[in-house]
Amino acid sequence: MWARQDAVRRAYVREMFGRVAPRYDLLNGVLSLQLHHYWRRRVVRMLRLAPDSRVLDLCTGTGDLAIELARMLGPAGEVVALDFCEPMLRMGREKARRRGLNHTVWLHADALQLPLAPDQFDAATMAFGLRNLIDKPAAFREIHRVLKPGGKVAVLELTRPQRAPMRWLYDLYALQILPRIGKRLSHADDAYLYLPMSIQHYEDRATIAEYMQQAGFTQVCYRDLTFGVVCVHIGVKP
Ligand SMILES: C[S@@+](CC[C@H](N)C(=O)[O-])C[C@H]1O[C@@H](n2cnc3c(N)ncnc32)[C@H](O)[C@@H]1O
Repeated sequence: MWARQDAVRRAYVREMFGRVAPRYDLLNGVLSLQLHHYWRRRVVRMLRLAPDSRVLDLCTGTGDLAIELARMLGPAGEVVALDFCEPMLRMGREKARRRGLNHTVWLHADALQLPLAPDQFDAATMAFGLRNLIDKPAAFREIHRVLKPGGKVAVLELTRPQRAPMRWLYDLYALQILPRIGKRLSHADDAYLYLPMSIQHYEDRATIAEYMQQAGFTQVCYRDLTFGVVCVHIGVKP
């Protein structure tokens, strides 16, 4: 999978999320032991946004982070929720409509080629998306381009804990248990083999921070949550 050409990998990722979309929220809850909502809320709090902020949520999927942002900002703010997989976006759009959150725009686009003008967002977020992108430095350059000066980026991603014994327990869960539960619940044999593989191939925390600095972000820092099973990277466009 990782040896495949970029275009093939990109198409695979889009098609795979399209197949998983109807059961994605159920699986997120089960596989994260319901921690995923808490992680997203932490990200939103870390950004300390003003109520009239304009925020871009990249790789929004079924929109849980976009919805959390929209709820926190209220009607004075605006959230643009972007994903390249229409079935995932459709789920998010429908969820936001049911909750009466009308200040969210759902945008079908590639995170690596944003169809957006420069300098227009106060913040950009991405939860569990970066791992899937074929060119992470390019993603940070695009995010930097569309943020206003002073705008912040926050990236939440699954990571391997740095220390034993949490690391051993994590590997046991991610490599042995998670693919079995995922296969059973998603009816997509490959999707939950892809997940642990993508975590194993994810760059270490310092390398992600370096990509951000190379894209022009300052005050780059990262914080592990829940023993390092996820990590949040934050940066500011000067
Ligand atoms: C694991 S899901 C995360 C969804 C959501 N952010 C969450 O917190 O649950 C990853 C999402 O990234 C999207 N994605 C992957 N590569 C993308 C790209 N190049 N451009 C836009 N979206 C992309 C997929 O379609 C999928 O919806």
